Amino acid sequence: MTKTLEEIKSRALDELRNLNDLNEIEAWRVGYLGRKGTVTQLLRGLSSLPIEERREAGAAANNLKSLLEQALAEKQESLRKAELDKLVQQSRLDVTLPGHHVQVGRLHPTTKILREACAVFVAMGFEVVEGPEVEWDYYNFEALNIPRNHPARDMWATLWIDYQNEAGERPMLLRTHTSPMQIRFMEKRQPPIRVVMPGKVYRHEATDATHESMFYQIEGLAVDKGISMAHLKGTLYEFARRLFGRDRKVRFRCDYFPFVEPGVDMAIDCFICQGKGCRVCGDEGWIEILGAGMVHPDVLRRVNYDPDVYTGFAFGMGLERIPMLKYGIDDIRLFYSNDLRFLEQF
Ligand code: DAH
Repeated sequence: MTKTLEEIKSRALDELRNLNDLNEIEAWRVGYLGRKGTVTQLLRGLSSLPIEERREAGAAANNLKSLLEQALAEKQESLRKAELDKLVQQSRLDVTLPGHHVQVGRLHPTTKILREACAVFVAMGFEVVEGPEVEWDYYNFEALNIPRNHPARDMWATLWIDYQNEAGERPMLLRTHTSPMQIRFMEKRQPPIRVVMPGKVYRHEATDATHESMFYQIEGLAVDKGISMAHLKGTLYEFARRLFGRDRKVRFRCDYFPFVEPGVDMAIDCFICQGKGCRVCGDEGWIEILGAGMVHPDVLRRVNYDPDVYTGFAFGMGLERIPMLKYGIDDIRLFYSNDLRFLEQF
């Protein structure tokens, strides 16, 4: 018996010494100490021995068992340490190596210009407010003096929402401009008002280099006692100079928008050719950037403002056009086609 134990012991320890991976070690454990392992069997076999031999053999076998268990634990421990040492070796930090280049995100060119434009107006005392892109006919057209069947509706190719009310009308649409926010804002508030309202607008149009079916506008509104055309001109002139350079000139010409009277379009002198005429301004020397005007008295009445007490000016402009002009971007579709080669330039 003692001889068998000695043999098992030296064989087991020899084997264990030569193992160096956790799977092999586990197999070794099962082979000797597992439920059907050599040592376990041996301990079970003790019961068949005569009682005098049993005690001594039992003690020896138990000794062997704990000896092997301890050897196993030591082996596992040393293996784990070796593994860890290897990892540390491999991952040792060399502070002299150049760092990895981390790709950081950036703001979309539209977001940038939107923030820039809003900041100019905020500096002049305007607040910034946003509103819904799904809109009612009433706000987008009716309340802005554009009744059903009015030819001015042709100015805005409209995307209608497939929704019918009890009267059988389809009064829901994707806003074609940010002007409905004028009404929404005045319904909620009383003068004095100084507000800009940026956001997405939608048009039912074939896209090309200068047309997208979704783009951004920024709307402005100032209503107070004694607001005049001079305020409109002064505000928008300052805006143009802050965005396009201190030496900009502006030009106002009569234009028609049903919700203002008088209505104007504003152009800046071309900042590429300083007004001489070039490709950017189409040889005009001037670049039209926005529509504006004095808020129509009927619009004021509709929100229960007394036009004999209050007057106001409003303006609206497309946002993408500004970076297009500033950076010479020749296709508006680039803004929303998610091409990183384009977006990473800003
Ligand atoms: N909403 C007009 C458009 O989309 C632009 C506009 C013109 C807005 C004159 C105004 C304004 O507030 O006074 O074409």
